[in-house]
Amino acid sequence: MGYAVIMLLIVFLCHEVSSISILPHKHQTISLLKFKQSFTVDPSASYYCRKPYPKTSSWNTSRDCCSWDGVVCDDITGHVIELDLSCSNLTGTIDSNSSLFQLSHLQSLDLSLNNFSNSHISPEFGKFSSLKHLHLSDSNFSGQIPSEISHLSKLHSLRLSTIYDSNKLRLTTHDFKSLLQNLTQLRELHLFGINISSTIPLNFSSHLTTLNLGYAGLYGIIPESLFHQPNLETLDLGFNYELSGYFPKTKWNSSASLIHIGLSGVNFSDNLPESLGYHLTSVRYLFLQSCNLRGPIPESLSNLTRIENLYLSYNSLNGTIPPGMLSLPSLKFQVQFTNLDNFRGQSAAGSCGCQPLFKP
Ligand SMILES: *[C@@H]1O[C@H](CO)[C@@H](O)[C@H](O)[C@H]1NC(C)=O
Ligand SMILES: *[C@@H]1O[C@H](CO)[C@@H](O)[C@H](O)[C@H]1NC(C)=O
Ligand SMILES: *[C@@H]1O[C@H](CO)[C@@H](O)[C@H](O)[C@H]1NC(C)=O
Ligand SMILES: *[C@@H]1O[C@H](CO)[C@@H](O)[C@H](O)[C@H]1NC(C)=O
Ligand SMILES: *[C@@H]1O[C@H](CO)[C@@H](O)[C@H](O)[C@H]1NC(C)=O
Ligand SMILES: *[C@@H]1O[C@H](CO)[C@@H](O)[C@H](O)[C@H]1NC(C)=O
Ligand SMILES: *[C@@H]1O[C@H](CO)[C@@H](O)[C@H](O)[C@H]1NC(C)=O
Ligand SMILES: *[C@@H]1O[C@H](CO)[C@@H](O)[C@H](O)[C@H]1NC(C)=O
Ligand SMILES: *[C@@H]1O[C@H](CO)[C@@H](O)[C@H](O)[C@H]1NC(C)=O
Ligand SMILES: *[C@@H]1O[C@H](CO)[C@@H](O)[C@H](O)[C@H]1NC(C)=O
Ligand SMILES: *[C@@H]1O[C@H](CO)[C@@H](O)[C@H](O)[C@H]1NC(C)=O
Ligand SMILES: *[C@@H]1O[C@H](CO)[C@@H](O)[C@H](O)[C@H]1NC(C)=O
Repeated sequence: MGYAVIMLLIVFLCHEVSSISILPHKHQTISLLKFKQSFTVDPSASYYCRKPYPKTSSWNTSRDCCSWDGVVCDDITGHVIELDLSCSNLTGTIDSNSSLFQLSHLQSLDLSLNNFSNSHISPEFGKFSSLKHLHLSDSNFSGQIPSEISHLSKLHSLRLSTIYDSNKLRLTTHDFKSLLQNLTQLRELHLFGINISSTIPLNFSSHLTTLNLGYAGLYGIIPESLFHQPNLETLDLGFNYELSGYFPKTKWNSSASLIHIGLSGVNFSDNLPESLGYHLTSVRYLFLQSCNLRGPIPESLSNLTRIENLYLSYNSLNGTIPPGMLSLPSLKFQVQFTNLDNFRGQSAAGSCGCQPLFKP
């Protein structure tokens, strides 16, 4: 009798398991293995990674695909929901008929830092309707970013930056704007080095914590609303040489959360406002080189007690360096001033010209 119960239990369990997880696993296993086979492993494909290794090399059918390196499945449905093959030495292309696109339940996909051989980003990426994280940075994609990316309305983070090999990917002004309008859940947007060549639109997700639009050919004026994004921690608009801006005269809504501000190369043609030092209570990185800044360095910058890196070179600042700035407690690297001819009566300034001024 005990035997019968156990048999029944086994039959029941097998039925449950096979209908719920084994079957989808079989399809997923095949899709993943096909995806693996569409690449060659090349030692130089993930050159910029700290610890690259080919995750797919250990994939084989002796183990459930849900336990493969880089693969995560949903506990209940068994569907593959995460695939992380960043830094995996992959060389090849991802065509529209790739078996990758059969993994329709993916919520997180990271293929950064591989070598997709100048191929285009397939419009099929726009069909992963559950995707919250899409990371394809520095993977040697080129050409136009498909407008279908803005269908991914659940995205929390989109990383497409090309830091090492910039301006091979393009995003049209229209797609840039619809992306920002449609992706209302975005926390992180990394488009450094993408050729966007556009003005900056007004609509951003209020959840935004990281906005990196450096070196993207942006022009026009930075909308003041960007400085008031309530949760912003990183604002990087550096190296957009046709971009101008104004520092808000009042308190910024993002001033307490901002940690990293990269605005080098943006034309402010203004004085640094005194308020800068009062409100940016969390800021650790402040990059304001070549910003066409004039006038004195506000005393209030001595209040930036968390600051680690401060770059002010290649501006037309004059007057004296506020003494408090030279003993800021967290300064790790350097305060860079150039054009120090204008700073009279300070030996450091007088003697070092264009050299960085190091904190002892
Ligand atoms: C993966 O890339 C790294 C860095 O180039 C290299 O050291 C490693 O040998 C590569 N592995 C394989 C299997 O190609
Ligand atoms: C990337 O892959 C292409 C072939 O698809 C190859 O010609 C090129 O050398 C690879 N680049 C690197 C850095 O490995
Ligand atoms: C399958 O992969 C495991 C590691 O995941 C490895 O230990 C084993 O040798 C592999 N088997 C074959 C046949 O490649
Ligand atoms: C996928 O499409 C490409 C051309 O876009 C073709 O060369 C390749 O053979 C196709 N692969 C499969 C598995 O159908
Ligand atoms: C990108 O792909 C092209 C074409 O295959 C190749 O010539 C180039 O070396 C690759 N660049 C990198 C950084 O891998
Ligand atoms: C916004 O996303 C929805 C799907 O969530 C899509 O149907 C629509 O076309 C998208 N709009 C744009 C402008 O991409
Ligand atoms: C950006 O793309 C436009 C065409 O869309 C092109 O004219 C321009 O030269 C590109 N800029 C860079 C820096 O590649
Ligand atoms: C911003 O988006 C809202 C709705 O999402 C829309 O009503 C408004 O017109 C947009 N504003 C701009 C300037 O695009
Ligand atoms: C700043 O935040 C407050 C409170 O959330 C809000 O009422 C105000 O409109 C915001 N100011 C700007 C300029 O966005
Ligand atoms: C910066 O902006 C000012 C005022 O708008 C303008 O006069 C100046 O030419 C600009 N400088 C550069 C380098 O674009
Ligand atoms: C900021 O610095 C100024 C001048 O160095 C000082 O008078 C003021 O008390 C400081 N304010 C705060 C909030 O730390
Ligand atoms: C700084 O430069 C402005 C002109 O840009 C000048 O009016 C002012 O006197 C200078 N201040 C000092 C302390 O040199």
